Amino acid sequence: MSSATIGAPYIRLDGRAKVTGAAKYAAEFKVSNVAQGVIVTSTIANGKITRIDTTAAESAPGVVTILTPSNAPRLPKNGEAGVNPPAGRRLQLLQTADVHYNNQPIAVVVAESLEEAYLAAALITVRYQVDAPKLDFEAGFAEAHPGKNKVPPMLSEGNVPEGFESAEVRVDQVYTTPMENHNPMEPHATIAAWDGEMLTLHDSTQYIFGVKQSVAKTLGIPNDNVRVLCPFTGGGFGSKGSTWSHVVLAAMAAKVAKRPVKISLARSQMFGPVGGRPQTHQHITLGAKHDGTLTAIRHDCYSHTSMIEDFVEPSSSATRMLYEAPVITTSQKLVPLAVGTPTFQRAPGEATGTFALEVAMDELAEQVKMDPIELRLKNYAEADPTSHKPFSGKHLRECYKQGAATFGWSKRQSAPRSQREGHLLIGHGMATATYPANRSQAEAAVRFEANGRVTVISGTQDLGTGTYTIMAQVAAATLGMPIDLVDAELGDTKMPQGPVSGGSQTAASVTPAVQAAAQQAVLKLVTLEIGNQASPFHNLQPDELDFKGGKLFRKAAPESGIAFTEVVKRNNNQPVEAKGSAEPSESTEEFSQHSWGAVFAEVSVDETLGTARVRRLTAVYDVGTLLNERTAKSQLIGGLVWATGLVLEEETHIDKVTGRPVNNNLAEYHVPVNLDLGDIDVAALNIPDKNFEPLGARGVGEIGITGAAAAIANAIYNAVGKRVRELPITPDKLMA
Ligand code: MOS
Repeated sequence: MSSATIGAPYIRLDGRAKVTGAAKYAAEFKVSNVAQGVIVTSTIANGKITRIDTTAAESAPGVVTILTPSNAPRLPKNGEAGVNPPAGRRLQLLQTADVHYNNQPIAVVVAESLEEAYLAAALITVRYQVDAPKLDFEAGFAEAHPGKNKVPPMLSEGNVPEGFESAEVRVDQVYTTPMENHNPMEPHATIAAWDGEMLTLHDSTQYIFGVKQSVAKTLGIPNDNVRVLCPFTGGGFGSKGSTWSHVVLAAMAAKVAKRPVKISLARSQMFGPVGGRPQTHQHITLGAKHDGTLTAIRHDCYSHTSMIEDFVEPSSSATRMLYEAPVITTSQKLVPLAVGTPTFQRAPGEATGTFALEVAMDELAEQVKMDPIELRLKNYAEADPTSHKPFSGKHLRECYKQGAATFGWSKRQSAPRSQREGHLLIGHGMATATYPANRSQAEAAVRFEANGRVTVISGTQDLGTGTYTIMAQVAAATLGMPIDLVDAELGDTKMPQGPVSGGSQTAASVTPAVQAAAQQAVLKLVTLEIGNQASPFHNLQPDELDFKGGKLFRKAAPESGIAFTEVVKRNNNQPVEAKGSAEPSESTEEFSQHSWGAVFAEVSVDETLGTARVRRLTAVYDVGTLLNERTAKSQLIGGLVWATGLVLEEETHIDKVTGRPVNNNLAEYHVPVNLDLGDIDVAALNIPDKNFEPLGARGVGEIGITGAAAAIANAIYNAVGKRVRELPITPDKLMA
């Protein structure tokens, strides 16, 4: 068996466990004496519960307990005992009778079985005082506010009036994207079990340490009293990045029931109580010279939030770094609506923002009669145009070039409606993809086991992305061992701490920690040998030794190796373990850190039916080092698939009167299936970005959904000659 290599396309280590059902997801853990919790949600969007009648439900078969705002345990107030959970979340924890959105949790029924819990839940009757809910997005623009958030509400670079006055041509348009909900295959689920004051949570999450802290703070108990386990997450995409009410409700219900309680959200409860992508209204103005040189870019974005919390979809953020222009001005404003608090959804900001900006660039290319790639090259940003920092790595030119060649871009007809196959109009479009490179502090441990195997451990998460595999791969490659000898463990807050698996940062955060831990573990072996009289390395200096292929050897005599397993044997067969941690260095701050890509689309539009289909997508990415070619490309392909849904299908419809999400199921909430997709060809340049992190990898979870919606929308315009600026591009919009 040869040593593992970085980048090799190993199949997922957890693949077999997943397809055979051996992989346990949160709701599947066997916890003895567990009772079933079902959340009851509101049927109004604004008002107060005046009466909640649980009499019939309480005498229903199998009912253990019912929590309502009248009897639920009182939680410490904000500020008490260090308690400071997000204000809005508290309001969904049965602490008041107020209702702030339709589908808000208002009761929890706990019963012996799921069926009994559902039956009892159906017997609960609720009376409300109903107030008019704010549900009109556009009507809220006048009172929109910047929100308490990290995104600056208004940022301007350069002399704005001058930038637009010197423009010879302009694009001035509004682009909109709808409310969306993530809907991972595995709905959110939590099992809460108390042992005295100690709380164990099996939770489906992107952030075990975040759940631990949020739950401890909300309940007002010490952080150390909470343990969170999550070995597998059946998709998250941002929806499982923060702690939603069902997690705390499960803990509260378990306390009252005096036995473990399991809560799995129904699919319909994935619409509201656990967030989704906010709708956006994006006004973009581009000013340019006749030769395509941008003189000014303006991007003003409204997105909705809930009545109880602020969440910003920062659609204008990519506009701040994607193209060179003397004037770049952006703003973000929030419109509170009586809906569940929105949240991060795959490439929050960039997914929706690059749709708007990259369609606007296509409109500009047409006005100045330039090839869309030429226009982008004309305004290529050599350094970050607003932070003025150099990029840690940028090979976007190569992406355009390679993508255009693979796709056959030179054969594109620039005039709309130039290509036809019977009743089908054919079109081609392209756009730029981009997503920030993020990285946080992470810890890992590497242990040489007595049986000759190696275990690599980190309290991180695998959302289906391949974290297990790259952890083992990087550990094995660092040790010079075959990957088959390495086991990976993750998803337990008893393990060394990992960051949130959000912002595409898991790979770039955790694998440097794994590398450091592997090096520390070898150093421990070295120390043991040097200190051991029975060792031929006794009393050598550490720097006289090196390792390779699972062996320690003297640099002076490379053939004189001692296998790692021998060292462990000599150590009374005691496993040898070391921790390592890694964090961004200060020099990282000197760079603007982003990933890049070029996406090309071919579509067909049925002239009579108005149906658009994506025939093929070609995308070339500059995402730094690929740690594992197979799992990395799977991530990129997944992003492109989702982009196809974003541009053609996805939309959560809210009833204008009741505020109820009406298509709250996977039959009516449309996502792409295989028949909706064409050929997807993904390539990555695989150029390491060592300015960003030691292995040079920038993370691939989100960039795939960026730019692609615009490439497809631009191809649709090229096919039919009608510009649809309102997503999703459904047949009705193409017919009108
Ligand atoms: Mo991602 S939307 O940062 O989980």
